Amino acid sequence: MPTPLRIAVLASGRGSNLAALLAARERGELAIEPVLVASDKQSAGALRLAEAANIPTVALNPRSYAQRRDFDADLFTRVADSGAELIVLAGFMRILDGDTLRPWVGRMINIHPSLLPKYRGLHTHRRALEAGDTEHGASVHYVTAELDGGPVIAQARVAITPQDDEDSLAQRLLAHEHRLLPAVVDWIARRRLALGEADRVMLDGVALSAPLRLLDRHLQV
Ligand code: GRF
Repeated sequence: MPTPLRIAVLASGRGSNLAALLAARERGELAIEPVLVASDKQSAGALRLAEAANIPTVALNPRSYAQRRDFDADLFTRVADSGAELIVLAGFMRILDGDTLRPWVGRMINIHPSLLPKYRGLHTHRRALEAGDTEHGASVHYVTAELDGGPVIAQARVAITPQDDEDSLAQRLLAHEHRLLPAVVDWIARRRLALGEADRVMLDGVALSAPLRLLDRHLQV
């Protein structure tokens, strides 16, 4: 196992992707040391999960800040103070200020429930169904100032069936997200993945020509 990678997880909601990371660590499959779980919602389930796992938490209320970027600056100061080497956005529902996040480009990833570049933003399952897509998926990408627009590292794909509705599709995809995110974090922890020049995703020092694919539990070129 590599030296554990110190990660900070930012989450606004229930935290099932955080739970998947912690479970993979518990099984001895993922060398991470979660140093902080931060949220913009005091009620976030992710915070309760972190507390139960004895991970330091912080909840910042956006309303307590005069300006958006003041919130972001405080958040990133706390993340930096935690000693995190990687920030994982796992259901973090706020748009971050480009200037504030810039020092973290290449050290911050996000999981998004669509096959990017399709369906940036919200309601991705509904939009995939409305478009009549036969396939849907989730992407893990490096975060840049462009919302859901950073270089895609890896994707998991699911078939859309005629019986699917928004809920069934979201639920089926979530199970894949829970394998995708730990798999990507594992390869980052093993120092196999990096963001290279011209925003190219590098695997073992070689630029990827397409996102990695999750097959079963494993990433494939
Ligand atoms: C996931 O669907 C993730 O892709 C999206 O927000 C959701 C977070 O779920 N960015 P959870 O809080 O990890 O359960």
